[in-house]
Amino acid sequence: MRVTENINELRTIRRAMTGVFGLIPTMGSLHDGHASLIRRARLECDHVGVSIFVNPAQFGAGEDLAKYPHMLENDLVLLESLGVDAVLTPAPENVYPAAYQTWIAVDGISTLLEGADRPGHFRGVATVVAKLINIFAPERVYFGQKDAQQVAVIRRMVEDLNFDMSIVVSPIIRETDGLAMSSRNAYLNADERKAAPVLYRALSAAKAKFEAGEKKADGLKAVVIETLSAEPLADVRYVSVADPDTIEELHEISGGALLSAAVIIGKTRLIDNILL
Ligand code: PAJ
Repeated sequence: MRVTENINELRTIRRAMTGVFGLIPTMGSLHDGHASLIRRARLECDHVGVSIFVNPAQFGAGEDLAKYPHMLENDLVLLESLGVDAVLTPAPENVYPAAYQTWIAVDGISTLLEGADRPGHFRGVATVVAKLINIFAPERVYFGQKDAQQVAVIRRMVEDLNFDMSIVVSPIIRETDGLAMSSRNAYLNADERKAAPVLYRALSAAKAKFEAGEKKADGLKAVVIETLSAEPLADVRYVSVADPDTIEELHEISGGALLSAAVIIGKTRLIDNILL
């Protein structure tokens, strides 16, 4: 496994690799959710690259950039065991040098849900993912359904800017009590950790209602809100039933729908979703 902080060196390493190259962009502090993407890429690609970069551009003022976990040594042990070929761990000043001025704004979709709650977030995500795609020149790029709106934003960008690669999306990996794995789960204290599975329970209750015939978004959202309200530690940010591609709210479900929610538990912001 080749590991470098240097973008030019990564390009040289990458150029020597022939066949299908798969990229998994991450912010490190890796868990089984990340590992599932890497394992899948390992099966589907000749070479696999991972980036570990806590991207300052996607954190808002007052968000958790300063305390976001850094676990580089552990991460590299895991990546080696998963058979990763190339790892880029760039420094922020080399990704965004002092003269940096170029940003990718995916209008519309970036202003909804996560984007409404976290202004500028998706501008940072789209920009760094575009840069990583240019650096790694992958044939396939792997993302988790955990960040469903991120997938929608990246799909839009790739289509709008004619990027020549395919996006692969993998299912959400959960703890045994249903909590979606996330690097941010490490922030939860014992009581908060006990409360956190309420998010998936709430979405699952709405899914059961959907399967029992409820097709109205309001009816489904009410189930989510009712379940979340029973947990005093959970502060609801949004509950949404939206088109999975455009992230526009639906009133009634006829085709597919993305049921998603964000809550703050203690000081930790958690998101989760289920496809209906
Ligand atoms: P990060 O949160 O590290 O996630 C990296 C990838 O792992 C994302 O595609 C995310 O959706 C996926 N992932 C996280 N938790 C998962 C889970 N429980 N199950 C399945 N997949 C999961 O997402 C980012 O980093 C950043 O925004 C990034 C795309 C790297 C740009 O900075």
